[in-house]
Amino acid sequence: NSAVSGLGRAIGFKSVPMTAVDQVVVPEGYRTQVIYRWGDPTGIAGRMPAFKTDASDSADDQALQAGMHHDGMAFFPLDGSNRGLLVLNHEYVDDGLLHTDGMKTWSAAKVRKSMHAHGVSVIELRRDGAAWQQVLPSRFARRITALTPMTLTGPAAGHPMLRTAGDPSGTQVLGTFNNCANGQTPWGTYLTCEENFADYFEGTATPDAHQKRWGLKKGNGAKYRWHEHEERFDVAKHPNESNRYGWVVEIDPQDPSSTPRKRTALGRAAHEGAAVALTDDGRAVVYMGEDSRFDYIYKFVSCDKVRPGGAAANRDLLDHGTLYVGRFDVDGTGEWLPLVQGKGGLVADKGFATQGDVLIKSRQASDILGATKMDRPEWTTVDPLTKEVYCTLTNNSNRGAPGQPFMDAANPRSNNTMGQIIRWKESGDLDATKFAWNHLVLAGDPKQTRYEAQGNVKGDAFGSPDGLMVDARGVLWIQTDVSTSTLGKGEYTNLPNNQMLACDPTKGEIRRFLLGPAGCEITGLTATPDLRTLFINIQHPGEPANERSDPERPLAVSKWPDGAGRPRSATVVITKIDGGVIGT
Ligand code: FEO
Ligand code: CA
Ligand code: CA
Ligand code: CA
Repeated sequence: NSAVSGLGRAIGFKSVPMTAVDQVVVPEGYRTQVIYRWGDPTGIAGRMPAFKTDASDSADDQALQAGMHHDGMAFFPLDGSNRGLLVLNHEYVDDGLLHTDGMKTWSAAKVRKSMHAHGVSVIELRRDGAAWQQVLPSRFARRITALTPMTLTGPAAGHPMLRTAGDPSGTQVLGTFNNCANGQTPWGTYLTCEENFADYFEGTATPDAHQKRWGLKKGNGAKYRWHEHEERFDVAKHPNESNRYGWVVEIDPQDPSSTPRKRTALGRAAHEGAAVALTDDGRAVVYMGEDSRFDYIYKFVSCDKVRPGGAAANRDLLDHGTLYVGRFDVDGTGEWLPLVQGKGGLVADKGFATQGDVLIKSRQASDILGATKMDRPEWTTVDPLTKEVYCTLTNNSNRGAPGQPFMDAANPRSNNTMGQIIRWKESGDLDATKFAWNHLVLAGDPKQTRYEAQGNVKGDAFGSPDGLMVDARGVLWIQTDVSTSTLGKGEYTNLPNNQMLACDPTKGEIRRFLLGPAGCEITGLTATPDLRTLFINIQHPGEPANERSDPERPLAVSKWPDGAGRPRSATVVITKIDGGVIGT
C-alpha cells in the first residue's frame, strides 16, 4: 500500500484518560462524526423511511433502515479512499428499545421487526472534504435480515441434519442472525459470522447429546421470543433448523441481487470472526475464533488459488479446502489438527460417516482430536507485514472452577476476568500445520489486588479484548467488550467504559485511543486504504445491567448519540484534523 508505506508502526497520539463519560472521546487532534444510526435509512431508492424517535417504525420500515447493535464491518473502496461501500453487521437487538412499549406486549409484528433489525447492511459512503456522507439513494444499498433467502454450499449442503419441513433439500435457508465479527476477502466479498445462534431456539426439556453440546436449552427462547410466532425456532417441532446456523456467510456487496452463501467447508461454530489472508501461491487462509467458553480456534486453507476477476471468478473458492482446529502446546509450539472425515478417529463409529458430519458437529470432532479449549476466542487478525496472527481471548471466569477445565499454557489464569491476546507464527507459509505461539499481553489492571486480574500490560489498563485489527502499516488496534453487568464494578472498578487502544506489537506498548459512551461496547473497525479515515461501531449504548426488555432503563443510562430520546447504535467516522494517518 503506497499511501502508508514508509510510515512504520509508530504511535503518536496522547493517551485518553479513563473517565466515566456518555460520549465518544478521542485524542487531541482527532475528530469524530456519527453516521448510520439504528433506524437511519439504508438508501434503497424510493424506500427511505425516516426514523421515528418513539420507535413506532413498522417491521417493513425496519427492513429498509439500519438494524440494531452494529458489530463487525468492512470498507470496500469504489474510488480509492474517497468513496466506497461500508458493509456492517447488526448482531442482535434490545427489544426494550426496538418497540415503543418494549416487551410489555408481544406479537408476530414485533418478531418480524426484530428479525428485520438483525443481519447486515450495505451502504455507500462518499468523502466530502473533511466529512463523510452517506449516498442516498445508492444502487448498492441493501439490507440482509433474519428472513433473507440464502444458500448452503460446500460439503455439508443437503446433509440430512440440514433438512427441514420447510426445506427438504437442506440447501435453502431463511436469514442470518447474531452476526458478530466479520471478514473481507481479497476478491471483494464480505464474510459475516453467525455467533450465538443457540439463544434464538427454544430447546426441549430432554436435549440429546448434540443439542447439549451446542447449548440448545429449554428457556433459551425467552430472550428473543421468536419461537412464539415463528415455529421453526421451536426445537421440539423442528429439530434440524438450528443446524442451519453457526456458519460463515459470504456476501457480494457489489451485487444487491446476489444470494448470500453459507460456506459449510469453514465449519460450524459460534463464529466470531473470519480473518482472510493468502499463502505465497495465492490460496485463501481463513482464521476463525469461536466465542464460547472452552471452545476452539480454527483455520481453513482453500484448495484453489484466488483468481483475478473478483467475486464471480471465485464463487466456489470457499467450498473446497481443509479445515483445522488448533492445539497450543506447553512448549510454545502448536499444531493444526485436520477436521477431515476418517482421520484422527473421526470415523463412522463415532458419528462421523461423512465430511458433512464433521463440519456440522465440528465441536464434537474437535473434542475427539484433543484441540485446546480456549478462553472464548473472539477476533483474529493477520499482520500484513510479518504474517503473525493475533487472537483475542476475551475472558473466562469459569477457567479453573470446580468441574471445569484447569489452566493451561495458552489460557494461564483461573477465574480469568480480564482475558489475553495470543499470537502465533506459522512454521513456514500460512498453510503450515505447525506453529510457534506466545502471548502479546495478559490484559488487566495493575491496581487490582488479585494477582490474576493484574495482567502484564505495558501502558494503559484494559480488560475483555474483543475487536482486533492490524492496519496496513502494522498498528494493532484493540477494542474492548466488558459486559454491562461488570463495567465499573468489582475488578473493573477503574474501568467504567469500554475503550479502543493501539499497540505497536514489536514494542508491546498499549495506549488508549478512544472511550465509548455509557453502557456500550466498542466493536467493528475498518479503514480507508490511505488510513486517513477509521470507522468503528458503538454497540448498545445505554445497555442496562438488567431488564433489557424494559424501554425505560436504557434511556436512563445513555442518550448517545442524539442527546435526547433512545440511545442508538451507530458507526463513528474518525479522522485527524490535520488530515493525517490515524494513529501517527
Ligand atoms: Fe458477539 Fe463474541 O461477541
Ligand atoms: Ca465480539
Ligand atoms: Ca465480546
Ligand atoms: Ca455486545
